[in-house]
Amino acid sequence: MSEELHAVRLRVNGTSYDVRVPARRLLSDALRHDLGLTGTHVGCEHGVCGACTVLLDGTPVRSCLMFAVSAIDAEITTVEGLTNDDGSLGPVQQAFKECHGLQCGFCTPGFLTTVTAGLAANPDPSREEAREIVAGNLCRCTGYQNIVAAVQRAAALRQAQGPAEGVAP
Ligand code: FES
Ligand code: FES
Repeated sequence: MSEELHAVRLRVNGTSYDVRVPARRLLSDALRHDLGLTGTHVGCEHGVCGACTVLLDGTPVRSCLMFAVSAIDAEITTVEGLTNDDGSLGPVQQAFKECHGLQCGFCTPGFLTTVTAGLAANPDPSREEAREIVAGNLCRCTGYQNIVAAVQRAAALRQAQGPAEGVAP
């Protein structure tokens, strides 16, 4: 018996996408497989690692814990949406690059979205606050020191650049 499909309009990084998905389609799978936005990574698939984090109306969520049909009224921001309007690296991306905040990069999309939301809430975090911002995300490679440095560097770049950073409000 074929599975019932639901017509869903997802708004991602300022673009609307019409897809037909089963009710059980995870948002992470819809982004990657239905929309082709493979920047969102899937690690643990049960809400622990944070690799799949996207922003829903600016709030970080685990897209592996959410159904796509639950996201129809939200503005979704994935890592692809964190660039500046001219396509150059946004401040959080640039900071991770400058500070060597990634090695294999698998966890990085989730860190970038998480840090983007964290800096929107706290634009000038102390080192301890920077650690708190990324405390829910797991990285197997970097030992976190460079990631924490990148959070503070991103804060500086963001302040120099002004409030607009390619993230939909
Ligand atoms: S893949 Fe979603 S939290 Fe790990
Ligand atoms: S950079 Fe490899 S898991 Fe974080």
